Amino acid sequence: KPCIVLGVPVQEGAGRLGCDMGPSAFRTAGLISELQNLGYIVEDRGNIAPRPLRDLQHPNLAIKALPETVAWTEAIAEAAYQASRDGMPIFAGGDHSLSAGSMTGLARRAAEEGREFFVLWLDSHPDFHTLTTTTSGNLHGVPMAYATGRSGFEGYFPALAAPIKPQNVCMMGIRSVDPAERSALQTAGVTVHDMRSIDENGVVSLLDAFLKRVAAANGVLHVSLDVDFLDPAIAPGVGTTVPGGATFREAHLIMEILHDSGLVGSLDLVELNPFLDERGRTALLMVDLVASLMGRRVLDRPTQSYRYT
Ligand code: ARG
Ligand code: MN
Ligand code: MN
Ligand code: MN
Repeated sequence: KPCIVLGVPVQEGAGRLGCDMGPSAFRTAGLISELQNLGYIVEDRGNIAPRPLRDLQHPNLAIKALPETVAWTEAIAEAAYQASRDGMPIFAGGDHSLSAGSMTGLARRAAEEGREFFVLWLDSHPDFHTLTTTTSGNLHGVPMAYATGRSGFEGYFPALAAPIKPQNVCMMGIRSVDPAERSALQTAGVTVHDMRSIDENGVVSLLDAFLKRVAAANGVLHVSLDVDFLDPAIAPGVGTTVPGGATFREAHLIMEILHDSGLVGSLDLVELNPFLDERGRTALLMVDLVASLMGRRVLDRPTQSYRYT
């Protein structure tokens, strides 16, 4: 199956401008050629465009760019649904609001195929606000709440064909949580591994436990990788830097194990802000992580270390 690259130059969900240059930076950093060098057929479908804007007003006056975000979500969900029929979709963002579209379009496809849909969320933030609880009003803070069917999105965002089961979501790298998100996560059923959990357990055992669940359900796994999952010292090209993030080695190890698992069906690359990057180093690191996820390895190994299927 080919890799299908979809550029998503959405930036209205973030608190500052620049994520609209993300798709270009990913292509400049070699996303397409790295995939081709690994032997994949790559179909670059170019950049998605948003649907026409509708007039939408919400009582929470903090919310920014609601019509724009909804228009993007509609277009991205449809593109995700189509692309997932043809190959492995890779969404090159764009801010994390794009996942409201990618996850819901992919979940719709999985439901139609009778597959259980899982998400590995690699981020310093849970992005678990509803339209009611967000105080910043930046809608890159809401996609996981929307995709898991939390209430308050009805009448604004597209109706969900297949809400994601919170039990099927695993978050890793979490270290910046707002009070409303914290209380919602307490009862939601989402698995949340914060940085303390990573330090105490290591990424291998945490990821292994989740992948076993995906495999046992014959599930399909979507990976959503926010640049701010990584430590800002190695990934400065993001608007929301949070200290104490994943190291270069932890991030690559996660990607290598994901490759060995054979369970990954789709990928979001989000929050890259090329305006804040240093000589492209964040874009290049993200592309290197994609290469590890897609099978690049340092040495040949006699057997895959992690097999789930
Ligand atoms: N929780 C904060 C907010 O709602 C930060 C969200 C950051 N999200 C992201 N995708 N970078 O504003
Ligand atoms: Mn995020
Ligand atoms: Mn984040
Ligand atoms: Mn390299």
